[in-house]
Amino acid sequence: MRILTGIQPSGILHIGNYFGAIKPILDLQGQGEVFVFLADLHALTSSSSGAGMRENIRTAAIDLLACGLDPEQTTFWRQSHVPVHSELMWTLTTVTPMGLMERMVAYKEKVQNGIAANVGLFTYPILQAADILAYDADLVPVGKDQKQHLEVTRDIAIKINEAYGEGTLKLPDAKISEDVAVVPGLDGRKMSKSYGNTIDIFMDEKALRKRVMKIVTDSTPQEAPKDPDTSTVVDLYRLFATPGQVQRMKDEFRAGGLGYGHFKQQLFEAIWEHFAAMRTRREEILSRPGYVDEVLDEGARRARAVADVTLERVWRAVGLRG
Ligand code: ADP
Ligand code: TRP
Repeated sequence: MRILTGIQPSGILHIGNYFGAIKPILDLQGQGEVFVFLADLHALTSSSSGAGMRENIRTAAIDLLACGLDPEQTTFWRQSHVPVHSELMWTLTTVTPMGLMERMVAYKEKVQNGIAANVGLFTYPILQAADILAYDADLVPVGKDQKQHLEVTRDIAIKINEAYGEGTLKLPDAKISEDVAVVPGLDGRKMSKSYGNTIDIFMDEKALRKRVMKIVTDSTPQEAPKDPDTSTVVDLYRLFATPGQVQRMKDEFRAGGLGYGHFKQQLFEAIWEHFAAMRTRREEILSRPGYVDEVLDEGARRARAVADVTLERVWRAVGLRG
């Protein structure tokens, strides 16, 4: 079984990204042939700085490797290093009905939020379809927000197969992680870079403690009992502690006598500990100049070998080859 997904390089990783997107993918390693790429061409639809883009790509690659992406097991590359993504995309645009694209919710939302609509943003789902179809992927693990893009991918593959012959493209299945909870940020809203409420996983110790201490709490005095069921501190602690430890914190909330600072310190320690091995790994990666590029080059080589075969098959079917 071939499992494939793309991750947009969008800067520093926070706890929400880790539990919502990264960990579910890394957990699939070993369960099939895993393909993970940095969707740098997609990121270009909302970028305006070459230096910023370069930095984001590098950070994302380092962080994913530090988090446990194993380049021995998993083919890991940059989308822009494999021309087939763009070449297949163009081919797909020629069977994609305008009406289908005009129904894309993610695009409409972006425009409503005041993001200038470029054509890249509009055709984003077709590039995503090419990403997936180029590798004959069986399963695509993504968040709920990507469900429609996966449906479109199947629709486009069906169009190609109807026009040019069954079996030209393989229909993938989405693996939507419905059960992945939304990780709350410092202010209790969804943790997101755009809200400035994140806890980043590779912060230094002092900065991390400071960030955790900023979690918004109510003004219940130290002695008074506190409600664990509405507390962001408890919600975050759940991600790092055993059920027994969470229960103990909840009991201590209800008992009163301990201030929020105490619980935040406990949370801080749990977070710091949780990412310790990944921090060490990150330092190791940083100390090996050239390592990241080597990994991505080798990944691109492996990816190209697969994608080239698909493009050849599609171009034969449509009459551009053979
Ligand atoms: P941000 O909102 O910080 O800009 P992105 O939109 O770049 O984050 O998200 C990248 C991935 O991380 C997506 O797959 C998204 O579903 C996941 N993710 C982001 N924030 C959270 C969160 N608070 N809880 C769970 N998953 C999240
Ligand atoms: N659109 C996806 C996101 O924002 C990223 C992505 C690009 C992707 N190409 C993909 C995900 C192919 C899965 C498969 O998260």
